[in-house]
Formats: sequence, structure tokens, C-alpha cells
Amino acid sequence: MPRISPEKIQEIKSRLDAVAIVQRYIDLKTAGGERWSGVCPFHQETKPSFSLSGASGLYYCFGCQASGDIIDFYCQINGLEFVQAVLELAAEARVDVEGGSGDSSEARLRKTCFQLHELAQSFFRAQLTAEKGAPAREYLQSRNISRDIQELFGLGFAPAGWQFLMNHLRDQGYKSELGVQAGLLSKNDRDRTYDRFRSRITFPIRDLSGRVVAFGGRIVAEGEPKYLNSSESPIFKKGELLYGLFEARKQITQSKTAILTEGYADVLALFKHNFRNACGVLGTALTKTQVRRLSGLCQEALLIFDGDRAGRQAALRSAEMILTYGLKVRVVQLPDDEDVDSFLQKFGEEKLRDLLEKSTEGLAFCLGMITHNNSPRQTMSWATGLLKNLQDPTLQAYYLPRLAAGLGITEPELRAALRPAGPARKEWTKPAGLKHLGRGQIERELLRFAIHCPEYREELGKHDLGQVLQTERGRNLWAKLKDYGHEAILSHLDEGEKRFFIQTRMEWARPADPAVLWEEVRDFLHRRQEQSTRKSLKAAIDKAQQEGNETEVSRLFQEYNKLITREQ
Ligand code: UTP
Ligand code: MN
Repeated sequence: MPRISPEKIQEIKSRLDAVAIVQRYIDLKTAGGERWSGVCPFHQETKPSFSLSGASGLYYCFGCQASGDIIDFYCQINGLEFVQAVLELAAEARVDVEGGSGDSSEARLRKTCFQLHELAQSFFRAQLTAEKGAPAREYLQSRNISRDIQELFGLGFAPAGWQFLMNHLRDQGYKSELGVQAGLLSKNDRDRTYDRFRSRITFPIRDLSGRVVAFGGRIVAEGEPKYLNSSESPIFKKGELLYGLFEARKQITQSKTAILTEGYADVLALFKHNFRNACGVLGTALTKTQVRRLSGLCQEALLIFDGDRAGRQAALRSAEMILTYGLKVRVVQLPDDEDVDSFLQKFGEEKLRDLLEKSTEGLAFCLGMITHNNSPRQTMSWATGLLKNLQDPTLQAYYLPRLAAGLGITEPELRAALRPAGPARKEWTKPAGLKHLGRGQIERELLRFAIHCPEYREELGKHDLGQVLQTERGRNLWAKLKDYGHEAILSHLDEGEKRFFIQTRMEWARPADPAVLWEEVRDFLHRRQEQSTRKSLKAAIDKAQQEGNETEVSRLFQEYNKLITREQ
């Protein structure tokens, strides 16, 4: 992402018409002078509390206190990050921010891609009315796609043939290689370039400022695939845009609801029947980016997916995704084997409104689908998955009771299912606990301390941990812990050691206060040292007595007594 200087940002703002931009989303009425007002797109209201100054480009809502300049507005309403919003607005204002130093080849390529799409769009449009466009016009008529709708969506036609667009672009001075990069032309194994769209109705896909960035193409006669999209290019990434969002955004912000469908034809049919807040997901699963865009524009999504199994599955995935973003979602259930286009053709607008009235609340729809098709275990794992995926953690408080109720379990039960599987991590031995443990246990505790607190390994060495450990296994592991770094050690451990090491790291929490534990360990090691000194003194005394060496015996006794008194 380029860094954009404050001067550039100022330049962009000064060249933009804030009123015109805001008006794409809401109706503004003049409120005297340079002041404009309208119904706020950022909260639910009917009175116009939203106010915009045409002079400064600043807006403020008296209802929800949303405020900012035109860039803030654009970010908020389109669900965009700052830089992305600036890039889009810069393009509109025709301020060159990307090629600041004039040599960014990527920026130049993007620019070329936009130009190529502009050329392609007017080429396809012209073909639709030209002689070669007859089959396309017939087809559109047969599908009841009116002239108005064709105009509004800029439909066009790519004639049957391999080089029409390619030649056209070449005539305008563009090498066909560029057309390939723009996703408009294709190339075969033998490096031959040809038109990607042939004998197809073209549906321009526009970004939020209305520029054509890609095409969808529907075959006019029979043929495969039925729909073909532009390939990805520097200006078109799959899953970023929604089909028709540019055309629908105003109605979406005004109604605070977006109708979401699967297909191009569905969007057109909805528009024709006065549902002008409709957009389509373009043949892929609904993505996070798409939901984020919608969440800036509206509070609710209405899903109208096909009435077949695939459609219901797609509706399920989409509803889930929307729920995790905290948007309201409702699902319209179409009769089996109808899509919204065929439904509207057969039954008309009013019947669809009836269905919208009867739509299912999103969470209930998901729960119904999931419990119907899955085992209880899968259902629970779906529910916990949904809760963990929530984009805003506060939403858990909202969904937890609703999900629990829907699953017929209690909230604590659902909450318990949310915790990571396996036993809870064990508590560390309390201080003063060591000497009460059995030998094997003590050894394990000491090694656990060494594993969890590498910062004390040096001290442990100074206090002769190695001598205190009684088993060879324990001493071997300690030797490795001393020698290898915390992370590098694994490759030096044998199977048993590795199991112990990993189990310790996974099952035991690191001690909350290692210093306190270290004191306990240190005292313990001290005592063990003294015990063993005592033992060897005793042995030496026995030996001296056997040998009848009285002076040695009394010297050793003195030492032994010193040790005992120090210990008490
Ligand atoms: P459908 O097969 O339901 O198409 O796919 P449709 O919109 O009803 O098509 P018509 O009415 O026969 O013209 C739904 C959407 O899936 C994508 C398209 O976005 C389509 O609109 N799709 C479908 C593809 O990308 N490629 C295909 O081959 C088919
Ligand atoms: Mn259809």
C-alpha cells in the first residue's frame, strides 16, 4: 500500500464533490446555504438528523453523533479501511497517488486495466445494438430483461468469434498481452491470444465508484460454462465485490437492508420488480470482505438463494458469515427448484413480498439446517465454532443464550463446550509441598520446574540438581536441559523424554510466580545436599571407629554436630 501524504489527501478532498458522493447513498435536501440534511445512513431513523456542509465537506449526525469528513464517510459507509477508501476516492478525483514518483509499474498497469475495461465496455455495448447482436437481443427479450434494466446495468454482448475484442483493443493501441493481464483476453498453451468472452451477454462488474473492473458473461446459445467471469487482475479480486452493489447502494442505505442473491439474472429480475436493494455474490461463497462492505451500508441482509439443496447450503454458509459480523440476517425460502428470477416471472412482485414477510430469522434458519443434517456432536461443534468466530467478542453475550435455547441446552452447558477440550491445566505444586512427596514425584516436580522455567536452569546447576536426582533417566534429561536451548532441545530428546517434556508444557500451567517456587526448590536442594553430607560423614565416622582412629572420630563428630545445629 502506498503511503499517501497529507497534502495529497487534502488535494483529493478539495477535488471531490462531497454532496454528490453522499447523495449516492442518501437523499439530501438543502437546509439553507451550503447546508444539506438527510436521513442518517448510520443508524435507524426516519427524521433527517444527518447534516452535511457542502463547503467544508464535513458531516455530523444529531442522532447518532456519526461525524467526519468525506473520507470518513466513504470508509464508514463502504466498510473500507482508510487507505483503500483514499485510493478509490483518489481515482475518482483523478489524483495520482499510486504512481507518486511516476515509476510504479503496478500503478501504471492498474491504470491500463481500467482503460481497457472502459474500452471493452463500450465495445460490448455497441455490439448489442449492432447487426451481430441480434441473437443477444432475442435472448434478453426471451428472458424479459427490459431495455431500462439493460441500460441501468450496462449489459452488452461479446459476439461469437475469437478476435473481436482483441482486434478492437489493438486498434486502440493496446498490445494483446495487456488484455490478458487485464483478464479480458485468454492465452492458450501455444501462446495464442484470443477473446475470453465469446457469444456471451456481458454483465459489467463495477467497483464502488462505478468503474468497470471485470465482466461476467452468460452464454447465449448452449455451451459451457453457463457463466464465465473475468480472471483475476490487478483491479479485480474474487470475493471483494458484489454484483450490482454500485447500482443498489442508495436503496440499500435508505432501506437499511440488502437483498442478497446468487446470480446475475436474479439481481436483474429483482430490480425489474422494484427490489432495488439487491446484489449478487458472483458464484463464490460470500466472503468477509463482502460482508464488511455490506455492514457499512445496512443493518440487515435478506438472503434469497435458490430453492434447491445447493442453494440452501449456500444460504447457510452466508447466513453464518453475516451473523458473525453482528448484522441481522433473514433467509427467504423459495419453493423447491425455483430461483428468485423464475419465481418473479411466474408469481410476480407481490408474492415475493409475501415470502419476504415470512422469511426465517437467520440464526433459527442455521440451527434448523444444522440440527436436521448433522449428529449432535457435529451440531455442538458447529455452535461453538460460530461463537468462536464472532468478530466482536461482545456478541457472544447476545448469541450464547439464543444458541443454547435453540439447541435445548443450558447456557453453562454451552459455555462448558466452548472451553478447550481435554482436562484443565493442572495446578503447580504449592510451595512447601516438595518434601511431602514421594521420591519419584519429587524428581518429576523438579524436572518440571526446570522445563517450565529455563531462566532458573543455571541456578539449578549451581545447586547440584544433578546430584539430587536419583534416577539415571532424570539425570539424563537434566543434562540435556542444561545443554540445549529451550526450543532446540526437542530434537535431542528420546521418545520417553519427549513425551514427558511435551506433556509438562501442555498439561501444567507455568507457575504463576516462579520466584516463590524457586525459593522452595532451592531450600529443598540445600537440605538434600546437607542430608547427603551428613550421610557421608556418618559413613566416615563408622569407618574411623572401625579403624580405631579416635582423633579422626572426634573431629568428624564435631563437624557432624555443626551440621545438625545449622539445620535446626
Ligand atoms: P445459476 O446456475 O443458478 O444461474 O448460478 P442463474 O443465475 O440462475 O442463471 P440463468 O438464470 O440460467 O442465467 C448462479 C450464479 O452462479 C454463478 C453465476 O454468478 C450465476 O449467476 N455461476 C453459475 C458461475 O459463475 N458459473 C456457472 O457456470 C454457473
Ligand atoms: Mn436463473
